[in-house]
Amino acid sequence: MVFLCLFFTIEAVKKDYILPSLNEARKRDKNQSEKRYFSLDDRYLGLGNGKHYYIITHGCQANQRDSETMAGILDSLGYKPCADEKNADVIIINTCAVRQGAEEKVLGEIGALKRLKKDNPDLLIALAGCMAQEEKTVSLITEKYRQVDIIFGTHNITSLPKLLYDVSTSRKRKVEVFSKMGEIIENVPVTRFMSHKAWVNIMYGCDKFCTYCIVPYTRGKERSRNKEDIIFEVKQLLDQGYKEICLLGQNVNAYGKDLKLSYTFGDLLNDVAKTGMPRIRFMTSHPWDFDDSMIQAIKNNPNIMPYIHLPIQSGNTEILKKMNRRYSREEYFELYDKLKAELPGFAFTTDIIVGFPNESDEAFEDTLSAVDHCEYDNAFTFIYSPRSGTPAALMEDRIERSVKEERLQRLNEKVAYYANKNNQRFRDQIVEVLVDGVSKRNSEVYSGYTPENKLVNFTGEDIRVGEIVKVKIKEVMSFSLNGEKVDE
Ligand code: SAH
Ligand code: SF4
Ligand code: F3S
Repeated sequence: MVFLCLFFTIEAVKKDYILPSLNEARKRDKNQSEKRYFSLDDRYLGLGNGKHYYIITHGCQANQRDSETMAGILDSLGYKPCADEKNADVIIINTCAVRQGAEEKVLGEIGALKRLKKDNPDLLIALAGCMAQEEKTVSLITEKYRQVDIIFGTHNITSLPKLLYDVSTSRKRKVEVFSKMGEIIENVPVTRFMSHKAWVNIMYGCDKFCTYCIVPYTRGKERSRNKEDIIFEVKQLLDQGYKEICLLGQNVNAYGKDLKLSYTFGDLLNDVAKTGMPRIRFMTSHPWDFDDSMIQAIKNNPNIMPYIHLPIQSGNTEILKKMNRRYSREEYFELYDKLKAELPGFAFTTDIIVGFPNESDEAFEDTLSAVDHCEYDNAFTFIYSPRSGTPAALMEDRIERSVKEERLQRLNEKVAYYANKNNQRFRDQIVEVLVDGVSKRNSEVYSGYTPENKLVNFTGEDIRVGEIVKVKIKEVMSFSLNGEKVDE
């Protein structure tokens, strides 16, 4: 009898906890990913009636789009969003695992939420996103952060209705994190957070396995949505009045490769451009599969915006090799110089990591000289952060933190210099700005972006969010432009 009870207890724990495994998540096969359609079980309808939710989003655009899916699912269950977490019945923290700093911020946030749970014991707190895919996070949360009721992974977003239902009825914590390669799920509800700009997933996952990066483990394998589903979504957005879309993928250039068709990202760009969406962007391009058909598509379609983000990560070939980036310094320059020549007037930005394990002074100097070569409009710069489970986390690293910090500072000074230099071409020019909103600090100042993705702060009359207006630039800063609206 005792034996039987024990068996049932273990079974119950197993059922409540589906735990992640980064080792499992590393696996890849050649099969095309399964596609299925989401449908909401009637049992969950009305689950959120009279209740409110609050979503905190960290990380990249993929996470922002996932939070919009979570909001869409919660709305379809009857929940309503609220502007203050104090009024929420459900709080979801959608997390990022790309660097240690991002993770620490989340742990601090969960710590602070404990107080809300004291005031409202019915409050449900859920942890989602890339941190949920890591064993170490899940064991830390389940052991030390009792206030978290639900943990669900990036492959488990559509389980949200069931998880909320189960936790509400059983009052037992639930963990559901699959570590699989992933599927494509269409027809999932979405509540977009903006009414003029939208994220459109074109593919999920990553197969590049850069040695420092956790993303291929947290997001599954590279898998593309069907072009018909993407075009349908873009046309819907156009009908709803959206002015700008950003096609999303960890490596958009690899679009379609898994579908085993000859249809490439260049073809998709042409077809998306044909919809007539006024502004089209894409994120992120890996230098590895940036082909000529892409360049032609970008060149031939004026509604594809003149802005390319092309992460270099390092300017040193040895380090690039250790990073498994699949290109040398010279190969990156070859592509970059070709893009610059073929796409005049375009803005170029990049991502750079300093302090990769045992990066020498000379290797870092190569990164600085690469910035001199490329003269980027901007760069997102990071100090290398070891991610357990990735190959680089096992590499010897004798470089002191203070050296890495000093390198970052030197790099940032250089980046700011070229950002400022590039922005000078906009002085006294009239630019087109898609209005995002008013400034938080001054309600008379509006902000928005130019086609080149330059942030513009400006003043003027009759300005509405979501409109494209003409602005004369009066003042040029390194990372923004200031101006005044002018009439047509
Ligand atoms: N798929 C995108 C990158 C997503 S992560 C791409 O390849 O461009 C965004 C950026 O975070 C990366 O480009 C890299 O510069 C940085 N990054 C990723 N892992 C990191 C780590 N372990 N430490 C520091 N920066 C990292
Ligand atoms: Fe990470 Fe590299 Fe994939 Fe980008 S391409 S998500 S840096 S593994
Ligand atoms: Fe972070 Fe996951 Fe995006 S680790 S950068 S939220 S894919």
